[in-house]
Amino acid sequence: MATEKHNPIIAALDVPTAEQALQLAAALAPAVGAFKIGGELFTAAGPDLVRRVRDTGAAVFLDLKFHDIPNTVAKSVASAVRLDVQMLTLHTSGGAEMMRAAETAAGETAHQLGRPGPLVLGVTVLTSSDAGTLAEIGCEPDPAAQVARLARLAVGAGLHGLVCSPLEIVILRAFLPAHIQLVTPGIRTGAEKADDQKRTLGPREAITAGADWLVIGRPIYAAENPRAAAERILESLG
Ligand code: C5P
Repeated sequence: MATEKHNPIIAALDVPTAEQALQLAAALAPAVGAFKIGGELFTAAGPDLVRRVRDTGAAVFLDLKFHDIPNTVAKSVASAVRLDVQMLTLHTSGGAEMMRAAETAAGETAHQLGRPGPLVLGVTVLTSSDAGTLAEIGCEPDPAAQVARLARLAVGAGLHGLVCSPLEIVILRAFLPAHIQLVTPGIRTGAEKADDQKRTLGPREAITAGADWLVIGRPIYAAENPRAAAERILESLG
């Protein structure tokens, strides 16, 4: 992928407008490794915003969690690569064929454009799902077992990265090949409240446990001085 693993902070641009996102990105760009653009912002501000965030020089993580038939996911991934994003997500529950099609499209499109391929990240079980949610959709009801099952499927299908909760890092690291990159949200520094995150870890603890990238939203963008907050987190990583 295009990003070097020097700064593992991915700042989530969880704001509703392009103007707010660009202001935040301009302030944070030198202090973070990447920006995450999710469904809310992308739906409001579109591909143009992605290009403008890329213009800050930071990597972009497009978090649209694709889940569709393999052909459609492959084409969506190709479009994301043409937008020059460095990371993107899909749901591993879409199955091995869908994930293989995504990886192939990512590699082929990047090759055609003469760029490094993006890191295609698999989302296993959303942290908002519990045993009841899994049972109601007919899955293995133990979330940890379902996470492990989908992680194995993703790696077997050729993915090189997964999104996981802080508390899954150690479980996944125990059996995943070492090259698999783990991206984890749910990071809290202790200086702020946990908000709606129930399972959190500190930035340094998450890296020590084996995370490669930390997705951090409110502890940065809701801070009085977002740039200073990002710099403090980076320093705390040593
Ligand atoms: O503000 P906070 O640091 O909690 O933001 C975390 C970011 O990571 C948000 O963009 C949220 O949507 C995302 N995320 C998450 N938990 C997941 C997957 C994504 O918090 N399981």
